[in-house]
Amino acid sequence: MNDSNEVEFDARDLRRAFGNFATGVTIVTTLDDKGAACGFTANSFSSVSIDPPLLLVSIARSAYGCEIFTRSRGFAVNILAQNQRELSNRFARAGADKFVDQNWRQAVTGSPILENVVAWFDCSHFQQVDAGDHVILIGQVEQYSYNTHAPLGFCRGAYVSFGLTPPMLQMVSSPGRLRVGAIIESNGRILLERNPDSGQLLPPNSDNVGDADTPDSLLGKLASAGIQVDLPFIYAAYHENNERFVYYLGELLSVRDAVETRQLHFYAFDHITWEEISDTATIAMLERFIREKRLGNYNVYIGDRESGEMHPA
Ligand SMILES: Cc1cc2nc3c(=O)[nH]c(=O)nc-3n(C[C@H](O)[C@H](O)[C@H](O)COP(=O)(O)O)c2cc1C
Repeated sequence: MNDSNEVEFDARDLRRAFGNFATGVTIVTTLDDKGAACGFTANSFSSVSIDPPLLLVSIARSAYGCEIFTRSRGFAVNILAQNQRELSNRFARAGADKFVDQNWRQAVTGSPILENVVAWFDCSHFQQVDAGDHVILIGQVEQYSYNTHAPLGFCRGAYVSFGLTPPMLQMVSSPGRLRVGAIIESNGRILLERNPDSGQLLPPNSDNVGDADTPDSLLGKLASAGIQVDLPFIYAAYHENNERFVYYLGELLSVRDAVETRQLHFYAFDHITWEEISDTATIAMLERFIREKRLGNYNVYIGDRESGEMHPA
């Protein structure tokens, strides 16, 4: 407690707690008094009012751009698309010349509108509110635009994507055989299935998700091995030969003791027999999963074995 009876929190921990709120990612831009473009990455954006049309974003007093923004004619909020993580990182670095090689144009207030964003709002200043170590910029929207691209998300300090994104939907609905699989981890071990004919290992998969009562479905197979899972979101989608694979990240609900079969077995990360996994895209996915599991940060992989692209999940 301090003199004013306010609880003193650990700043890092409070930031981590706030970070549980999933947001999009924006780049807020303006022009300085010499007409130079200035901007920073922000996820403190919120819509405020429809009539009048208002939004807000808060900027740290310590930011290089704080004074530039508070004295500017207006500002623009650019909402980033899921493939604009690099841009987000660039605009999160202090000071540096962030607009190099970045195309932008001007709308009503002159603030930079960045190319290929999902939406933008060009604003005049409505009000500024001093708020602790930040200043809240409330903008009145003068002009805006948006499109259907998938937005970039941010949660718990990592970029995320919002479930079935357009490239994934395209992959799932394109022709060819579709296999649906699950990555299921338990205490540093991962569930793999041995194909009885080829002897090869793969994460459990099937041509349909099904349910626990359908023996050949993914969930049915797992249920018959005493394994109950939830499949909350997609982790990877890729082409391999003529097949398309979509892998869910499984959340293990329960494993009945000693029901693991000879086909379905949990392998410790360090004891996976990689030579028994023939397809390289699956190896890449599992290696990524293990790496990310150790770092506690997941991405979504979309692509084929030659041209995969990581999409934050
Ligand atoms: C995802 C993300 C969200 C951020 N949100 C904010 C924010 O809302 N307000 C803020 O002041 N800084 C935010 N930052 C940090 C700024 O982008 C960073 O401090 C930047 O260096 C400020 O630029 P400047 O110092 O050149 O003005 C965020 C950074 C990231 C990566």
